[in-house]
Amino acid sequence: MLLIRTLRVQTCHVVTNIISRTSTCRASNRAPNRTFTSATLKLETIAVHAGHAPDAGTAAVTTPIHLSTTFQRDADGSYPHGYIYSRAANPNRSALEESLRALEGGSAAAAFASGSAATMSVFQALEPGDHVVAPLQAYYGTAKLLTEVFQRWRLDATFADMTDPSVVRSAMRPSTKLVWVETPSNPLLSITDIAGVAQIAHDGGARCACDNTWATPVSQRPLELGADLVMHATTKYLGGHSDTLGGAIVTREEDEFFARIRLIQTTGGAVPSPFECWLVLRGIRTLPHRMRAHSENALAVAEFLQQHDSVEAVHYPGLAAHPAHDIAAAQMRLFGGMCSFQVEGGRESALAVAAKVRLFIRATSLGGAESLIEHRASVEGPETTTPDNLLRLSIGLEHPDDLIDDLAQALLT
Ligand SMILES: Cc1ncc(COP(=O)(O)O)c(C=O)c1O
Repeated sequence: MLLIRTLRVQTCHVVTNIISRTSTCRASNRAPNRTFTSATLKLETIAVHAGHAPDAGTAAVTTPIHLSTTFQRDADGSYPHGYIYSRAANPNRSALEESLRALEGGSAAAAFASGSAATMSVFQALEPGDHVVAPLQAYYGTAKLLTEVFQRWRLDATFADMTDPSVVRSAMRPSTKLVWVETPSNPLLSITDIAGVAQIAHDGGARCACDNTWATPVSQRPLELGADLVMHATTKYLGGHSDTLGGAIVTREEDEFFARIRLIQTTGGAVPSPFECWLVLRGIRTLPHRMRAHSENALAVAEFLQQHDSVEAVHYPGLAAHPAHDIAAAQMRLFGGMCSFQVEGGRESALAVAAKVRLFIRATSLGGAESLIEHRASVEGPETTTPDNLLRLSIGLEHPDDLIDDLAQALLT
């Protein structure tokens, strides 16, 4: 089946041959947009063009940063460009949202000041008394939001092993309105069958949301697999340079639930600054190429670790030995840049390896050009279920031989 992708770019810019114009300027709460439709655009092309166009006022090829918080009315009281006040909408945010929408193949996107603010908007869009099925293995901040913030607002949550569909099915209740998926998971890289879990959610009358931060749309497109919402911490691979904090929700349908998310975004105001939006949009232009390099490097590192005598276990979905390698291969185009491993000898041995690295940087987070190493249990605190001999790696864009040499010397006992 031919996949029709739509790109809306600001101003009257025609990318000849590959994009054909199908509609005139649209007025909403955003700047006048053009809608472009193509049957041929690939993700690399969308990443470069979606949300970008020469500036109508100056012909600047790179989108200017619009710092103005307020926008002028016409004499008749209307807002001809669709912008009123920057919390409600801003040209840089609209451009970023358009790029994210196009990358995930959704119908709309809402950008937030952090990944956690984006996650929170989905929980806030639910009703008190609603029930959420969430992964046992999830970003610990997501679990913390459910247990320490939203429980007080009578949002119930069951944490289930998402790798087992029968467990997910039995966690469903009549009040379940949301099934939250995170795959690959943090920090054990377990894989959830997105299509299977989305089906279980829909059978129970619930929505399925997928945290796609680690995979990115270059690797995995959850909306195509049946998810209703995609969440991103744009802080990570989309920004790509460890210098911006942000998040986003992309929706398959611009429905009443997404309208609530939009209301929470514009009224609550946990929005990214114009500069943060500009940084993420710039990062996205190289995302497909960076993700290929991150994935190639991570596979090389995982294969090295897998054969090392001081390594007890390696968690990377690209390894044939990964318990859900087949599901990962079916739903992911690339296996991503994250991997984790368990060191023989327990917590102290793991900490000793982290202390000895020279190239890897001991820091939290992921998705930047530089490789990071982290003793995850220390970050997550005493309640953590993460094995205490586990080290998480965010594999960067260095040469893989140098990364392997660094780990080899750190693993020498
Ligand atoms: C998978 C995942 N989801 C969500 C988040 C939260 O993002 P942020 O730190 O931008 O709030 C993170 C942060 O590490 C993450 O790894």
